[in-house]
Amino acid sequence: MNQDSVTAFAPATVGNVGIGFDILGHTVNAVGDRVHARRTPERGIRIASITGTSTNLPMQPEKNTAGMALISMAGALSLPFGIEISIEKGIPLGSGLGGSAASAVAAVVGANALLEEPLPKLDLLKFAMQGEAVASGSVHVDNIAPSLFGGLVLTVGIDHPRIKQIPVPPSIRCVLVHPHMFLSTREARRILRKSVDLSDLVWQTANLAGFLSGCYTNDLAMIRDSFEDVIIEPQRSQLIPGFKAVKQAAMANRALGCSISGAGPTVFAWCEEHFAEGIRTTMVEAFAEHNLTADHWISTIDTEGARVVAD
Ligand code: HSE
Repeated sequence: MNQDSVTAFAPATVGNVGIGFDILGHTVNAVGDRVHARRTPERGIRIASITGTSTNLPMQPEKNTAGMALISMAGALSLPFGIEISIEKGIPLGSGLGGSAASAVAAVVGANALLEEPLPKLDLLKFAMQGEAVASGSVHVDNIAPSLFGGLVLTVGIDHPRIKQIPVPPSIRCVLVHPHMFLSTREARRILRKSVDLSDLVWQTANLAGFLSGCYTNDLAMIRDSFEDVIIEPQRSQLIPGFKAVKQAAMANRALGCSISGAGPTVFAWCEEHFAEGIRTTMVEAFAEHNLTADHWISTIDTEGARVVAD
């Protein structure tokens, strides 16, 4: 049943999850973005307001991730009405927690509820991808797909993406520590080498395969032994002061793995539930020793994706 106005929520996400650059990501239950969408008689997309953690974002729809996602959706569907949105940012800008993706996803999920015949989520994915491209300069799905579908999500393909929600052992928690600094996704992508050593490719491929098989079989030792990004993390870690110490702190306190969330600077660690508090404390302390204060959360991984919520 369609409505004239709705509010949708889309959760933050950990992109890449270390070993799956641009193809793997998972939801975080601590924070997210909300978009209020309203039908208007005149066609076109309009952004009425942006509030919350980051208000210094473009109000022109074609330069805004949520706006661009809706322009793409309205064009593809030849919508006979317009949509006005108000964006409420819960995810800090440039944090590596998938903020641009979450706004785009919340926008398309909200707009979808305004349609006479709402589309399946897989159809919404491509519209949200167009939004994400505005922010990062490239089309990648590792934040969009989990924010939309929920949980740990693998995406195969770009033109006709296939989505797989991967089961995660229930005892696992994700510790997230967001140091108070801004890192541009564009810049974090620009510094990456365009080619990869064959030996690194073999190692990373084995790690991704091992990690996924560990998730499917509830094999924590396999997850731990394959949780290492040998390609992207060594290049990007220099952008995050104290990264090495933060990772060492997490691993010394029994984390299964620790890496950069998306393009950073948030650092995340997977661990069993009973180690999570200790890991969080030492990671925050390690950042403090590098003069960085931080927000921090402990999240489950198998959490819900984007959805319509009460106003
Ligand atoms: N996979 C992307 C990257 C996520 O690491 O650049 C950032 O949005």
